[in-house]
Amino acid sequence: MVRIEELKNNFLQLLSRLHASVPAFSGRYTAHMLSEQTIAAQAAYFATMLYNPNNISSEVAPVTTVLEVEVAKQLAEMIGYDPHRAWGHLTSGGTIANFEALWIARNVLYHPIAAAGAAKDLGVDLRVSLPNGSCERLRDLDLWQLLNLRPACALDLWDQLWACAPRSVIEKALRERSLATLGYQDYSRRLGAAFGDTLPAGVVLVSATGHYSWEKIVRALGIGSNQLVLLPVDENCHMNTVALWEKIVVLSARHVPIMACVTVCGSTEESAIDRVDEILSIRAMAERKLGVTFHIHADACYGGYAASITRGAANERQTAKEIRGALGVPHWPPEEWVRSVSALEHVDSVSIDPHKLGYTPYPAGAFLLKDRRARELVAVDPPYLAPAADDPGDSVFPGRFIFEGSKPGAAAAAAWLNHGTLPLNNTAHGKLIASTVTAAHRLHEELGQPELSPFKAIRLPAPDINIVCFLLDHPSLASVAEINSLNESIFKELSPARAKAGEYIISRTRLTSPAYDGAIRPVLNALGRDAKSFWAEYGAEGIVILRTTIMNPFADSEQPDYMAGLVAAICEAAARCIKNVGANSEASLAEA
Ligand SMILES: Cc1ncc(COP(=O)(O)O)c(C=O)c1O
Repeated sequence: MVRIEELKNNFLQLLSRLHASVPAFSGRYTAHMLSEQTIAAQAAYFATMLYNPNNISSEVAPVTTVLEVEVAKQLAEMIGYDPHRAWGHLTSGGTIANFEALWIARNVLYHPIAAAGAAKDLGVDLRVSLPNGSCERLRDLDLWQLLNLRPACALDLWDQLWACAPRSVIEKALRERSLATLGYQDYSRRLGAAFGDTLPAGVVLVSATGHYSWEKIVRALGIGSNQLVLLPVDENCHMNTVALWEKIVVLSARHVPIMACVTVCGSTEESAIDRVDEILSIRAMAERKLGVTFHIHADACYGGYAASITRGAANERQTAKEIRGALGVPHWPPEEWVRSVSALEHVDSVSIDPHKLGYTPYPAGAFLLKDRRARELVAVDPPYLAPAADDPGDSVFPGRFIFEGSKPGAAAAAAWLNHGTLPLNNTAHGKLIASTVTAAHRLHEELGQPELSPFKAIRLPAPDINIVCFLLDHPSLASVAEINSLNESIFKELSPARAKAGEYIISRTRLTSPAYDGAIRPVLNALGRDAKSFWAEYGAEGIVILRTTIMNPFADSEQPDYMAGLVAAICEAAARCIKNVGANSEASLAEA
C-alpha cells in the first residue's frame, strides 16, 4: 500500500516536473531540431515499447528486427541505393551513424594491405584495378597505391580471396594483418617494417559546417583532431569545391592518405546542402589525374529525409520541374538542389536521422552503406547470440555489424509505421518537409521587409531546407562587438532557458573565421563595416547569428501565422535590448 501511494505521488510529481520541458510541439518553438512527431510514429512507439524488444538480435526481438531491416530498405530506396547491394540499420542517433561510417571507411582503406599480405602468404596472385583504370598485380603495388584503391575494388579483393582457400584460412590471414586486430601502434610499426615507409598520417576531410560529432569521432577512433581537416565554405555555406580540389592536390603530392571526405547534406546550423554531385566529380577527377581516391560519406543526419521530395507518387526520381509541379511551388527546388540531393545515391555511405526530419521519437538515427560487403570489416561474433553461419538474412543478428549493443525495437516500429503512413515521396513525407521549407522561405522574406526599421536584418542566403539564420543591425551600433552584443541579448530574451510558456523560442550560433570566411564576407558587406578590422579583431570570436529551425508541420499555416508572429517577437525583443547594448559592450570591454 505504501509503495502504491509513493508511486502515485511520485508519478504526479513527475508529470508536474515534465511541464518544464521544452515545448517542442509548439509552432512558436523554432530553436533546435525538435518538433511535434507524427501520430503514426508516436502510436507505434507506445504500442511497441510495452513489449520492450531489444533490436540487437532476433532472439530477443523477432518482430522489430525485421521491421528495422524494412526501414533501412525504405531509406536506401529513398536516397537511391540498390537495396539488394546496400545495407543499413538504426542507431541511437547521428553521432553513432557517423562514427560507424568512419570506422568502416578506415577499415576499407587499410583492407588492401591486409589482403596483399594474406595473398602473398597463401601464394595467390590477385589482380586489381587502380583508380586511373589500369589493372595491376596486387603484389606489385606500393603502399600509396594500396591506400588508393576504390572502396569497391578493395572489397572485390575480399571476394577474390574467398575463392582461393577455405573461409577460416582467409579470415585468419586477414585478421593477423588487420588494423582492427593490431591497433594503430603496432600497425604503424609493421607498415614501416614491410614497406620501409609508413607514409604521413591519413586525414579526414569535412565541410566546415560539419557537426561537432566529427571531432569526437576522430578522437575516439584514435585518428586524432589534427587529422580532421575542415574545408572552407562558400557564401551559401556549401563546401567550397575549389578548395577541396586544391587540398587533394596538396595531400596527394605529400602522399597523405585520405580516409574519407564528409559532405554535409543539411548542416546543423544552416541546413545547407553541399554540392554532393560536384564533390563526386572532384573525386572522379582525382582518380583520373592523380590516382587518388577516398570514401565519400554524406552526413545527411538532418537533411537526408529531404530526398523524399525528389520522389514522385510511384517513388520515381523526378526532375526539378516535375517536383515543383507536384508540390505546387513555382520556384523551388532549384535544379542544383535536386542534383545535389539526388547524388546521394552515389556516395559510399549516408547517415540519416529519423529522429530529426523523420519526425520519429528518440532514439532513431540510421546508417546506410552502399556496398554491404564493407560491414564484414567490423563484424564481431559473440558466443551467446545466433552465430553468423545461421544468419540467413539481415534481421537475425544485427548486433554483429554495429557499434552499439542493446537498442529499442520501438524506434524501428515508429519509423516503420511512419514510412508506411507517410510514404517517402513528395505526395506525403516530402510534402511535409517542403511545407516547412516554404514557411522558412517566407520567414526569410519577411525578415527582409522595411517594417523592421530602425533595425535591419542581415540574412544568410535563403536556406536549402528550413533553418533561417540572420542577425539584426541598428544604426546606433558602431562595431561588430556591439552588433554581437545586441544579437546575444535578443537570443537571451528568446532562448529556451528564458522564454516563458507560449513565447517564441530561437537559438543562436557563431560564424567564425577562417572556416566560415566565405559566408562572413557577404554579411560584412551588408553590414557596411570595415571588413579588415573584423578579421583582425573578431575573426576568432566570430559573428553572432540568430538561428530559427522551422520544423513544425504547421509552420506554413496562416492561422495562426507563426512566421509573422516570430518576426514581431524578434522586433520586440530587439527594441527591449537595444537600450542596454552600449552598456553591455562597455561592461564586457571592462571585464576583458
Ligand atoms: C548534420 C548533423 N550530423 C550529426 C548530428 C548528430 O546527431 P545526434 O545528435 O542524433 O547524435 C547532428 C545533430 O544535430 C547533425 O545536425
